[in-house]
Amino acid sequence: MLTRVDVALGPRSYPVLVGSDCLPSLGATLRANSLPQTNAFILTNPQVGELYFETLKASLVAVGFVRIIRHDIPASEEGKNWNEFSATCASLLEHFPDAGAAPLVILLGGGVVGDLGGFAAAVYRRGIPFVQVPTTLLSAVDSSVGGKVAVNFGGVKNIMGAFSQPRLVFCDLSTLRSLSPRELRSGMAEVIKYGVVCDATLFETLQSDSLEKLLALDPATLVNVISRCVHLKAAVVEQDEFDKLGIRNVLNFGHTIGHALELSAHYDLTHGEAISIGMIAATKLAIELGICAPSLLTQLISQLLRAGLPISYPGHPELFDPMLRALQMDKKFRNGKNLFVLPTGPGAWQQTEDVPWPLVHEAMRQAIA
Ligand SMILES: NC(=O)c1ccc[n+]([C@@H]2O[C@H](COP(=O)([O-])OP(=O)(O)OC[C@H]3O[C@@H](n4cnc5c(N)ncnc54)[C@H](O)[C@@H]3O)[C@@H](O)[C@H]2O)c1
Ligand SMILES: [Zn+2]
Repeated sequence: MLTRVDVALGPRSYPVLVGSDCLPSLGATLRANSLPQTNAFILTNPQVGELYFETLKASLVAVGFVRIIRHDIPASEEGKNWNEFSATCASLLEHFPDAGAAPLVILLGGGVVGDLGGFAAAVYRRGIPFVQVPTTLLSAVDSSVGGKVAVNFGGVKNIMGAFSQPRLVFCDLSTLRSLSPRELRSGMAEVIKYGVVCDATLFETLQSDSLEKLLALDPATLVNVISRCVHLKAAVVEQDEFDKLGIRNVLNFGHTIGHALELSAHYDLTHGEAISIGMIAATKLAIELGICAPSLLTQLISQLLRAGLPISYPGHPELFDPMLRALQMDKKFRNGKNLFVLPTGPGAWQQTEDVPWPLVHEAMRQAIA
């Protein structure tokens, strides 16, 4: 049985389907969702492809796909670069030169595969349909939904990209079982993020034993929490698809200092680990500014520690200058000011460009001291 969450974007609407052991039914699900192609371009990486490509391929063959091309990119954030993007486009062109036979692009992997492959699908022939098949907790709750696709360029994260919605998101929760504990914990950072700024009920649920159940991959908890997060993301994206109204900024809680740290540490930290530290920094700023009760920080720290996430990256004071430079390259940096998303209570937030630089510097120093 698949749980369905709809992302309602008019002509660009699509369902997010979440289930267990459902990968063999992907082909049939594509057909049931009006995707009639018989050519497929599967983007994955060696690690994920080894585990799931054959099952996915068999499900496509069973519903009449004829030409199925697999292309791999490296299994890490370093793979989300212009050269790999270019190689992916070259493979699309080599295998599908005929405009009448454009493939359905299927993105089998985590956020790196989804972001890079979604961008390639968005620009190849000015856009061909793609489907997200997220295989990490992070991509299931966050990156596979919402249509932001991008690659890193010139040392700046996600600086080359587009808005392009998938036709379908299909999440087989059983694939999370092969994730390394570190990657699973990393995804928990985004789950916790939703609780802090979007949903007090989710925050409370995680305060109880759901967090441990989620880490233990308890099937019922997984479906409930993941579909709740997808629902929260869908609601934000529906109000601000193209990130023009500021509403989508809520999803950047923890990502201002977090992204700067992720880049400056040269990906020694996973995205989720960096965001974990960034959420602590942003919550401290909110407390300094008097808009958040200190008890929220205590609860957030306890959730992050229970999830096995770092709350600082100690012993790296040398990262202060690189982080400051990275902050100024951030997409949220405008006219000499940085936009911060600050929590104001469980499930509530506000954004401000007026956090005094000395406070920001102090929060950064504490993150890496
Ligand atoms: N587009 C968006 O809205 C959005 C939102 C959040 C994050 N992101 C992006 O997502 C990326 C991070 O995504 P991620 O955390 O999924 O990382 P990732 O794609 O690098 O995957 C993490 C690791 O897990 C491995 N892996 C994936 N699925 C597996 C499985 N089922 N079993 C075993 N191993 C598996 C991968 O090979 C990789 O080594 C970042 O680049 C970030 O910028 C994008
Ligand atoms: Zn993130």
